Amino acid sequence: MASAAKPMIAPHAIQQVKDAARVEEVVGEFVALKRKGPRFLGLCPFHNEKTPSFNVSPNLGIYKCFGCGEAGDSISFLQKHEHLSYVEAIKWLAKRYNIDLPEEEQTPEQQIEQSEREALAVIQQWALNWSVEQLWNTDEGKRIGLSYFHERGFSDATIKTFQLGYVPEYGSQFAQAAIANGFNPELLEKAGWIKRREDEARTPWDFFAGRVTFPILGLSGQPIAFGARTLKSDKKLPKYFNSPESVLYNKSRSLYGIFHAKKSIVEQDLCYLVEGYTDVISLHQAGITNVVASSGTSLTEEQVRLIKRYAPTVAILYDGDAAGMKASLRGIDLVLKEGLNVKVVTFPEGEDPDSFAKSHSSSEVTAHLTDTAQDFLVFKAALLMQDVGDDPVKKAAAIHEIVESVALVPDLVLRSLYVQQCSRLLGVNEQALISEMNKVLRRQYRKKLGGDQPIPEEHLAPDIAAPQPTLEDVGTAPQERDLLRMLLSYGHERINVPVQDEAGNTTEEETSVAELMFELLALDDILFDEPLFREMYLDYRHASNLGTQIETSRYVTHEQENWRTTAIDLLTEKHVLSPNWKERHKIHVKRESEALYDALEEAVDILKERRVDRMIKERQEELKATDELGMIALLQEIMHLSEAKKRLAKKTGRVIVG
Ligand code: CTP
Ligand code: MN
Repeated sequence: MASAAKPMIAPHAIQQVKDAARVEEVVGEFVALKRKGPRFLGLCPFHNEKTPSFNVSPNLGIYKCFGCGEAGDSISFLQKHEHLSYVEAIKWLAKRYNIDLPEEEQTPEQQIEQSEREALAVIQQWALNWSVEQLWNTDEGKRIGLSYFHERGFSDATIKTFQLGYVPEYGSQFAQAAIANGFNPELLEKAGWIKRREDEARTPWDFFAGRVTFPILGLSGQPIAFGARTLKSDKKLPKYFNSPESVLYNKSRSLYGIFHAKKSIVEQDLCYLVEGYTDVISLHQAGITNVVASSGTSLTEEQVRLIKRYAPTVAILYDGDAAGMKASLRGIDLVLKEGLNVKVVTFPEGEDPDSFAKSHSSSEVTAHLTDTAQDFLVFKAALLMQDVGDDPVKKAAAIHEIVESVALVPDLVLRSLYVQQCSRLLGVNEQALISEMNKVLRRQYRKKLGGDQPIPEEHLAPDIAAPQPTLEDVGTAPQERDLLRMLLSYGHERINVPVQDEAGNTTEEETSVAELMFELLALDDILFDEPLFREMYLDYRHASNLGTQIETSRYVTHEQENWRTTAIDLLTEKHVLSPNWKERHKIHVKRESEALYDALEEAVDILKERRVDRMIKERQEELKATDELGMIALLQEIMHLSEAKKRLAKKTGRVIVG
């Protein structure tokens, strides 16, 4: 059956989508854009650059990079940037702009496929209900299935959340009930629930008989397949039987647990990846809900892209088995290639996430996951170097292996950072690594193109190590100035602030803009760098803490001249609302004073974002002169800071590429 056939989209609907899409909004979802007159400018996401040459023209509906020449409209942008097909890009836009896409007349073949998919979906839902019913409400189900889950430490709530079930051992009870319910045996077989004997009557029998069931849910929570675990310890029996692939179930595109995990994956910007059904369930029960399983097989490209839709980082949880770990190192290359950050969490010898979660408290599990997470490439380098010893041949092989992985990282800046790290970890000259990597890059490039075209220079690391970013231009004076402006202009104004009480309920509390600012900045111990701004800020805070009613005249008529001029400048400055505001408030806010809470929070977030930036740059500087141990710690810190930065950028609406 033509499972690759995609339903067509009617031309008028495509036009509707094209009309609705605004190129600056679509591109703006992925690239931080600044308005420059009639157009927008940003750093090109398609090549590495330090000064923006990526132009977006809302009038023309197009983007063009004057650096690398890449150009197109919103649809081609999505195709290129998100690796979508044309139809997928249209669908993405339809979703973004709330447009219903009527599907065009299907071919007869597509109709059959569609109706088979629907029939299988009905069967899987019915079978799910039936197996859950067996588990909870039959003698055998309770005695065997339910008590098995209890023995494993699954709570009733967990069993219900994951809709675990049971299939009775004898009498083909499922087949009988399903056929009596009117389901077609052929479809029941395609769904994986029954098999049929080769006898005349094609007598059906239950494929999952005597097993507990783990439904595999699609993205919207509908059952698409099942894993069924035997309760016997007979080593000759396969531990799990799984539904076969069908028009409904594409194994390489599914991840076990994704439905229950996706919300928290987005919230945490992180997806934990484990091996088995029970690892997902146990971690979930321990309160770690951003976890999915690849279900025993090695990860596929589609699965990685699925994760990438929700989070920029994957942390792979390895059980404590060194051989298994080494064997799977290569599989991770796929994840690197998709541009995800990859981390690794290991467990003590003989433990897997499931057993670990069982023998430790929730907070211990959480602590283990956060404390032992390592950057994957650093982990890989260290692991490979372990058994190199003094053998130069082994060492060369290990270096090559690492370089192969590093070369897959699409982000050039990150890649060169890794080269530096690895040069220290492996004790190899950085220059040598760069040349080695460029060899790999050239080969990869040729393989991709299938010819022997030379790789464009910009895809290679410069043969001379790139200059490191310097510490200039990361000052926060403009942000500090803006906060001081808000303090002087609105400090005394009363605003309502959402607060959470102990029970987690959100209520409002009245405070002043000044109080709120003091509080927000104190949270992270932030003080202004610019001496004049800092003095004025501290003066305001001090006076305000003493209960003084602060008038603007305090500053406008101050004895020090620079205080006076600054205050007058700030108070008379025309403020430009950030472009992000319309989006934030849905309705149009004309003036900042109408939404002081948001304005202040945004200003503080932007200051923090800049500070984080600076910290990252400082760590990068430190990297130049540190030993191996220090380097791993620094790299970890940089990763953490980058994540913090991404979170802040998300809040301030300034999307960061990569
Ligand atoms: N698996 C499978 N078929 C098997 C064995 C394993 O499909 N015969 C898949 C399942 O998705 C399973 C995963 O590989 O969840 C990991 O295997 P394993 O660690 O053996 O299973 P667990 O889920 O950990 O089960 P248990 O803890 O009950 O042993
Ligand atoms: Mn297990």
